[in-house]
Amino acid sequence: MAKEMAVSDQELVCAAIEARETAYVPYSGFSVGAALLTSDGKIYKGGNIENAAYTPSNCAERTAFFKAVSEGEKNFAAIAIVGGKHEKSISDYCAPCGVCRQVMMEFCDPETFRILLAKNSEEWKVYTLKELLPLGFSGKDLDK
Ligand code: THU
Repeated sequence: MAKEMAVSDQELVCAAIEARETAYVPYSGFSVGAALLTSDGKIYKGGNIENAAYTPSNCAERTAFFKAVSEGEKNFAAIAIVGGKHEKSISDYCAPCGVCRQVMMEFCDPETFRILLAKNSEEWKVYTLKELLPLGFSGKDLDK
């Protein structure tokens, strides 16, 4: 049986850049791409999807998570995120919104889940979920 190749951080960043092409952003003109890596090496890509009524809009990160979870995935290792003005190349890092951080908290170990914020295919910064969501609330808190 062929051995699965590990996905590199750069491959994950490139997948997020590709995912950004799928963003549907007629209202904000700000397109975001996310690439979510499962613990067994699969990548789920997502773009942000906006709506004329605004509030039904979905961030790129949640598109990727909901695609993955709806396919039965529950174990995640990392996510790469890129964002910037639509149809322009990215010029700065794009941090996940609070709602997306909370969705990550639902499915990921904050100590080990890695969040890669990329400027381009060569430059990115890595954080843990715990760094971006200190004192996060999760299902474990409901058992206390
Ligand atoms: N957005 C994301 O998709 N992810 C983020 O991390 C930040 C914001 C989207 C939401 C909206 O469609 C657009 O970017 C502008 O806020």
